[in-house]
Amino acid sequence: MAKKTVEDLQLDGKTVLVRADFNVPMKDGKITNDNRIQAALPTLNYILEKGGKIVVFSHLGRIKTEEDKAKNTMKPVAERLSELLNKEVTFIPQTRGEALEHAVAQLQPGEVLMFENTRFEDLDGKKESKNDPELGKYWASLGDVFVNDAFGTAHREHASNVGIASHLDSAVGFLIQKEIKFIGGAVDHPERPFVAILGGAKVSDKIGVIENLLDKADKVLIGGGMAYTFFKAQGKEVGNSLLEADKVDLAKSIMEKAGGKLVLPVDTVVAQAFDNDAPSKVVSGDIPEGFEGLDIGPETLKLFEKELQGAKTVVWNGPMGVFEMPNFAKGTKELCEILVNLKDAIVIIGGGDSATAAQQLGYEDQISHISTGGGASLEYLEGKVLPGIAAISDK
Ligand code: 3PG
Repeated sequence: MAKKTVEDLQLDGKTVLVRADFNVPMKDGKITNDNRIQAALPTLNYILEKGGKIVVFSHLGRIKTEEDKAKNTMKPVAERLSELLNKEVTFIPQTRGEALEHAVAQLQPGEVLMFENTRFEDLDGKKESKNDPELGKYWASLGDVFVNDAFGTAHREHASNVGIASHLDSAVGFLIQKEIKFIGGAVDHPERPFVAILGGAKVSDKIGVIENLLDKADKVLIGGGMAYTFFKAQGKEVGNSLLEADKVDLAKSIMEKAGGKLVLPVDTVVAQAFDNDAPSKVVSGDIPEGFEGLDIGPETLKLFEKELQGAKTVVWNGPMGVFEMPNFAKGTKELCEILVNLKDAIVIIGGGDSATAAQQLGYEDQISHISTGGGASLEYLEGKVLPGIAAISDK
């Protein structure tokens, strides 16, 4: 059933509660990447244009101690949001109470208020993360309608998304709509050929995604650390490479079921240590003792390029190698190059490290869609229902 979108709501003069995912990377109290804040702007600006009063909130980090609270205040996020919106954002350093209620009551159409990290409520019995019914009801009581635009948190069933949605008329924002259009579109009705590329360290993190995409895609290309568990399943030696020994049988059964759909690397850049300056070489077949695989090799890139020719939909999740080290970034970088040169293909990067890689390597603007979700996009690619979206009112 289609969900209401922010355009379906009456916003004029209303207090609009907006759940965003402003869980942004921070270093020494400074935001190091504000993509997630930028991604919420279309929804926030639309609500302001329509005469709504915005109460926006998010979690930041995981809160287990008082020190976590000190490190994860939303204050710098409110300041950055204010710069990006080019308007004042009143920051209330509480998650409940009279000061917050009073400030919300004073809000005028076109104004924005942000309150403190929703997970500060986790110190008192995990109220946010366990979707405490009283907390969701309380937050809902602060507004007239609810807009969820926190795609990155949509796989969580928390008070600030699912809890609030059960008390108010609700809708998804433009960011969630966009994520549904691209990721949902690729998984549910892709234009074919549909090629999935999966990388990253562990098979165990991606089993659900591999299985779902083997079902949906025409080809699944595997790279990154998890390839070595598949190498072992092929009977190859993997030296000191990342290996999940308890997943070798699973890798074997995935390979058997997949038939020709699964494409594994045919060569590997190996080094004597997990170090950018360690002596390295390219090997095909066995990875020699004392070496570990850190990137896909040039023949694999040629093979992947061939498999990708003519693709109309491509979904990529997980880097091909240790892209953080320049000497082992080539596989990931050249894969980006191949993807941006595909003619007429929708290319979707499913969040997490591959999104960081594409951004750091300078390909961000040439990709059809880079998801703002890490865990959320993985679960979406697995075909799971995301509770944060499921809880929103139907059209
Ligand atoms: C993310 O960064 O993936 C989301 O904000 C969810 O964060 P969490 O894994 O701490 O729930």
